[in-house]
Amino acid sequence: MVNAPSMPVGIFDSGIGGLSVLRHIRAQLPVESLCYFADSGFAPYGEKPAELVIDRTLSIARYLLSLPCKALVVACNTATAEAIHILRAHYPATPIVGIEPGLKPATQVTKNGIIGVMATERTLMSHKFQRLYEQLRQETGMTFIMQACPGLADRVEHNDLYSARTEQLVLGYVRPLMAQDADTIVLGCTHYPFLEDCIKKSIRQCTDREVQLVDTGVAVTRQLVRVLQRENLTAAEKAVFADTRAFTTGNAHTLAEQFEQLLHIQANVSAVPIETTPNIV
Ligand code: DGL
Repeated sequence: MVNAPSMPVGIFDSGIGGLSVLRHIRAQLPVESLCYFADSGFAPYGEKPAELVIDRTLSIARYLLSLPCKALVVACNTATAEAIHILRAHYPATPIVGIEPGLKPATQVTKNGIIGVMATERTLMSHKFQRLYEQLRQETGMTFIMQACPGLADRVEHNDLYSARTEQLVLGYVRPLMAQDADTIVLGCTHYPFLEDCIKKSIRQCTDREVQLVDTGVAVTRQLVRVLQRENLTAAEKAVFADTRAFTTGNAHTLAEQFEQLLHIQANVSAVPIETTPNIV
């Protein structure tokens, strides 16, 4: 099937974290139709083996492209870190945009050169991330403090953004970064922007200094705009009726509620039980 500008853009994540990216895409590209896939039945990816993350990524991409979608956004740092090179090798003709923790943007906003990075364990352990970190450390001489945050994406999946339990968990991850004087925190998982209030509250409990949070959803959207333009795939203003459809391996009703609560969008959600098919990589 030939990609056409009127086809939707497919966006996916291990769960609802990618909605923090989708909101920027909707704002910047209002005439694009979007298909969002939440793999909530298999979340969190960050604590799963790399092979499973690769298999899930390929299975979901195959589904989105069969709809069909004209381009894919991997709105998950963990899936990008472990699987994007394999995804691109499987679908060389499809424009694919990934997301990675915003280390580079952080080097531009930090004042003291001490940057905290909150991400999943799997992202921090990946070769892709290690290469990026090593390159920037050598280029800038700045200090990056890695903070794996097990359990945090799960709190967002459970819509538990403000409870005492979530606050305690966040504080436990923010405190060591503040103790080491970080003045910038990279939100290296797409679930974490939904915890911004809680993260800011934890920062205030630890320090009076100003701390910047870096979310890469805007940068990913800019990249998507560039890629669609380059491939002549930008939707024409009057040619399409832009809408947002969503799919989940979890509960459709829950995802519809999460769209409503987090983004105030009424999405048409279907449950699609995609099994993990081992992929030949
Ligand atoms: N939202 C994902 C990311 O950006 C992963 C969260 C998870 O499933 O562990 O890394």
